[in-house]
Amino acid sequence: MSSATMPTAINRTFSIAPMLDWTDRHYRYFARLMSSELLLYTEMVTTGAIIHGKGDYLAYNQEEHPLALQLGGSNPEDLAKCAKLAAERGYDEVNLNVGCPSDRVQNGRFGACLMAEPDLVAQCVAAMNEVVDIPVTVKTRIGIDEQDSYEFLTEFVDKVSAAGCDTFIIHARKAWLQGLSPKENREIPELDYDRVYRLKQDYPQLSISINGGVKTLEECGEHLKQLDGVMVGREAYQNPYLLAQVDQQLCGLDKPVLSRDAVLENMIPYIEKHLVSGGRLNHITRHMTGLYQGEAGSRAWRRYLSENAHKPGAGIAVVHEARASMELK
Ligand SMILES: Cc1cc2nc3c(=O)[nH]c(=O)nc-3n(C[C@H](O)[C@H](O)[C@H](O)COP(=O)(O)O)c2cc1C
Repeated sequence: MSSATMPTAINRTFSIAPMLDWTDRHYRYFARLMSSELLLYTEMVTTGAIIHGKGDYLAYNQEEHPLALQLGGSNPEDLAKCAKLAAERGYDEVNLNVGCPSDRVQNGRFGACLMAEPDLVAQCVAAMNEVVDIPVTVKTRIGIDEQDSYEFLTEFVDKVSAAGCDTFIIHARKAWLQGLSPKENREIPELDYDRVYRLKQDYPQLSISINGGVKTLEECGEHLKQLDGVMVGREAYQNPYLLAQVDQQLCGLDKPVLSRDAVLENMIPYIEKHLVSGGRLNHITRHMTGLYQGEAGSRAWRRYLSENAHKPGAGIAVVHEARASMELK
């Protein structure tokens, strides 16, 4: 096997949730600088985009490993084709999205609505497992609409695990397929962590990670007493410096914690390379506006970047100026 196809060992203790438009390869590079242990997920990529699209939807930086590709789709053959491509490109895991409630996604018959079709999800998982050696995992919800009993969830898990999926990431909130926007459905209805704990107790042989509403590493520590992993979405994006202590606090690694300035400094060569290749500054810096959250001057940092980084020709000086603007406060 070449190094590109040798999967990196996966530690599921802490992962960053797949988030469309947010967890692109620039954000993921930035996140990886702060933790060698966390597991990264790509934004959801549909099988249609991969198979018929013109762009390279599977591109990533080698530094991102361990990295999971999240797929959106429900056609077993297409999913198998995409999973195989992902494995060939060196992804460490393929994850199926059975959690997104968006209308657009439902029309394509994938996302959370698939929870109502456990046999189809099982076929999808089996088809992917047949063609790859990397783990095939599922991210789902605790229920959908009125189908929110514990038995509904266990029937889903029974069928999908029998098809070869031994790792589930459960967003501890049911999906409402009508009447709520995906954004609203990330706050309503309320979270039910106990249901995910119960699932782990009943399925000790499966790896179960919890997702939804987690904001601190202390909360992660509490969940980890009961579960195999915690997946964090919005907080990991809006307050990314949280990630700087994942390795020490959650994974037991004995290593120094990088300062915020050190993280910034480590991003500079990456940004410069991107600029030299014709990329725009704000494609990267838009993911970094939360770096100084909670620090004096963080608003100045954020404002300077959002007012200047998108301008044509904006270069690395804008980043240094944004940092300097914090001191003027
Ligand atoms: C901007 C945004 C985009 C998202 N895109 C995806 C996606 O592509 N695939 C997916 O499974 N979930 C997606 N989600 C849901 C998150 O993965 C996660 O389940 C949800 O935000 C709850 O976790 P949190 O409370 O830690 O943010 C998205 C969430 C946000 C905020």
